[in-house]
Amino acid sequence: MTETQTDTGLIHVFEPGTDPARKPLLLLHGTGGDERDLLSLGRTVAPGASLLSPRGKVLEGAAPRFFRRLAEGVFDEQDLIHRTHELADFIAAARARYDLPAPIALGFSNGANIAASLLLLRPEALAGAALLRAMPTLGEPPRADLTGKPVLLLSGLLDPIVPATSADGLAALLAANGAAVEHRKLPSGHGLTQADIGLLKDWLNRN
Ligand code: MLT
Repeated sequence: MTETQTDTGLIHVFEPGTDPARKPLLLLHGTGGDERDLLSLGRTVAPGASLLSPRGKVLEGAAPRFFRRLAEGVFDEQDLIHRTHELADFIAAARARYDLPAPIALGFSNGANIAASLLLLRPEALAGAALLRAMPTLGEPPRADLTGKPVLLLSGLLDPIVPATSADGLAALLAANGAAVEHRKLPSGHGLTQADIGLLKDWLNRN
């Protein structure tokens, strides 16, 4: 069953899970995506998990995003911070509404970037995160207690949007705050590949 609700603050789809052993997945789409984009990926990599999938509120032209950017790779940090708190409040409202434990974020690109920001600014919102093609976004990230929180970072060695050093920097930042980071580098670009799906499945089976 899927439904789109607006009364938790963000348009979203919620699909109840069938496997109580699986943590819910918070699906966060990339620029130009919407709440339906990652549903089939979520079903594939975590069969039976509840899926909570919001749509980013910011529009770049007609393309939904989770926070404003001034140019490719140049972020409006004030908006990012505001949208991160808004998303954390949405997660709390959705958890109460659907009776869910803390979810694992599965974010792609812009969605991965706001998931990383959630970890740093509102660590209690997530049980962990799989970050696909993420990069650092906050100039002066705060200290956060991420002790033992599982984080999977999948980056593409040929990614023209996220330079390899940026992905390394994000992995180091999260690990320095205590997260249990697994960083895998794939021979791919910004887009997702079958290898991403296999690694995601394996990591989600363990977390
Ligand atoms: C971002 O803007 O968050 C990143 O550049 C990724 C993207 O959405 O293109």
